[in-house]
Amino acid sequence: MIRTQVDEIKEKLNILDIARSYIVNIKKSGSNYFALCPFHNEKTPSFSINPELGIFKCFGCGVSGDVISLIEKLENVDFIEALEIASKKAGIVLIKKYSPKDQKLFKQKEELLKLNSLVSEYYSYILQKHKNGEKGREYLKKRNISLEFAKKFNIGYAPKSYKNLINFLLSKKYKTENLIQYGLLVSMNGRVYDKFRSRVIFPLIDSRNDTIGFSGRTVLKDTKAPKYLHSPQTITFNKSKFLFGLYHAKESIRKFNFIIFCEGQIDVISSHKTKYKNIVASLGTSLSEEQLKIAYRYTENIYFCFDNDIAGENALIRSSYLAHNQNFNVKAISISQGKDIDELININKKEWENCVNNAEPIVDHMIRRLYKRLDVSILEGKEEFTKVILPLIASLPSKIEQAHYIHRISLIINVSEDILKEELNNQSKSKDFIPHIDTNKIKIFLKNPVNTKEEYLFALILQHPNFLNLSLKLTKTRYFTLPSLKEILKKLKEYNTNRKKFILKDFTSSLIDHEVKYIQNLLLFDLKNYFDIESEYKNELENIVNYLKKSSIRNEIKKIKIKIEKAEHSKDKKETKLLLNKLMNLVSRIGKI
Ligand code: CTP
Ligand code: MN
Repeated sequence: MIRTQVDEIKEKLNILDIARSYIVNIKKSGSNYFALCPFHNEKTPSFSINPELGIFKCFGCGVSGDVISLIEKLENVDFIEALEIASKKAGIVLIKKYSPKDQKLFKQKEELLKLNSLVSEYYSYILQKHKNGEKGREYLKKRNISLEFAKKFNIGYAPKSYKNLINFLLSKKYKTENLIQYGLLVSMNGRVYDKFRSRVIFPLIDSRNDTIGFSGRTVLKDTKAPKYLHSPQTITFNKSKFLFGLYHAKESIRKFNFIIFCEGQIDVISSHKTKYKNIVASLGTSLSEEQLKIAYRYTENIYFCFDNDIAGENALIRSSYLAHNQNFNVKAISISQGKDIDELININKKEWENCVNNAEPIVDHMIRRLYKRLDVSILEGKEEFTKVILPLIASLPSKIEQAHYIHRISLIINVSEDILKEELNNQSKSKDFIPHIDTNKIKIFLKNPVNTKEEYLFALILQHPNFLNLSLKLTKTRYFTLPSLKEILKKLKEYNTNRKKFILKDFTSSLIDHEVKYIQNLLLFDLKNYFDIESEYKNELENIVNYLKKSSIRNEIKKIKIKIEKAEHSKDKKETKLLLNKLMNLVSRIGKI
């Protein structure tokens, strides 16, 4: 690289123009320009730019530099990459000291990128304008993606014919063999034809907004063809180093300082209809270390959102373990409705935002999930529990966090902290080791039937019929969130008002089938403690009731907070004040419990 070229580029570029292409609302003040700093959160602008000197400085967080380092920081790239970007913007061709082999590769890459961008435009044109794009337009409409919105991601459509793209590209003098190698065409039994047919096309765009490959989702319902097809590995595209959506997520990652990692491309695109645009996906492969390294350039906080089944949970454990080893803080997002993010957003956008807001630190999440599944009162349950959770804790970057969780787990599974610590120190730190849930075992140790505080309370009540009047006096149906329990409790209260003595058979005759089964399970549940003395029983009952009371108020608080946000947003002062009062009330009620 020739030194003077760097100076030439710096001279040619106006730092203010460059800054304006990334940062909104830059205002002049004296000979300087000011904006909100893109590198830290602030309310009043302390990020200043001096175009004459070609420098910037933030008086809030202290970052400073010239136009190249500004690009370096905004794009999260190294100096050389920033220089390449800058040279393009300046219209200067970098003279590089590349070997002839490197130069050839470099040229090839540039050519492929040019070809990809042409193909991307072609498919997008068909989707937006051409009559052959009708099926694509129908499909996107069904998926709730407007044509306008599709433009943002350059979404396109490949029609059903075998000879569409090929004819177009041959007319542009491209060579068949190259097009096969780049995965745009396929060759079978001596025939060459389009690879993507009857598919919605998602260009694979890298962090610099270059199209490095394609992915196509079939629009056909009854087809033996795979749902998704992707470009093969080429000189520009490597699946395990690619994060779908990264380019479009950058700004939002910077804003929220976390990145959401999910499984589907459509999920990424859908999330752009909400405030969380800081989302990426891999293309059907499990998360790689390289992908994590790329994400780490932008933020050290990662939120995973996987399916709610065992496979999803194992993906979550595996990914979190890898992410911890790269010093990420990890949280898990649970989807409250629908089978994936896209479905949830189509039901209710706000609800997805709530799910993200309620993301839970990964270890808390896993403890909760495992506890629900495993019976930790028996040896095998304890072993399975620690086998999954300890490696995850051992991989946590902070020792204090480790100590915190060891303490909690010791209480939960009733094993001394010392022993857990010893086990923690024995954890393998090997790269090949990945903790996971053993799907066979999880079935054997399935925790049954009681798995929540609500169910425990109900079991407690049912197994102490002598104290039924007391129980029903202290227990309100509104403390329960499980609909079956709510219903059964209501019936139990009704039953009890007319009778002196509780006769199980008598009561169950008023219930429907699944309710009877539910009750039988609760009656069989091993409570560990049976209370003969009324005061002791009352004590235990009150403990649980208070817990549920608090959590039901907490739920109400959550709902009110969302309402307040809405009211504030629509500048409804009266409503806001009313809601704030309600909120204060609830908070003071929690304090009194
Ligand atoms: N995938 C793939 N090949 C398949 C199916 C899926 O490569 N035959 C990848 C795609 O990148 C897809 C991701 O795995 O986005 C998740 O797959 P899946 O959950 O099956 O699809 P969705 O993203 O839900 O896609 P859609 O909503 O369009 O059905
Ligand atoms: Mn989906």
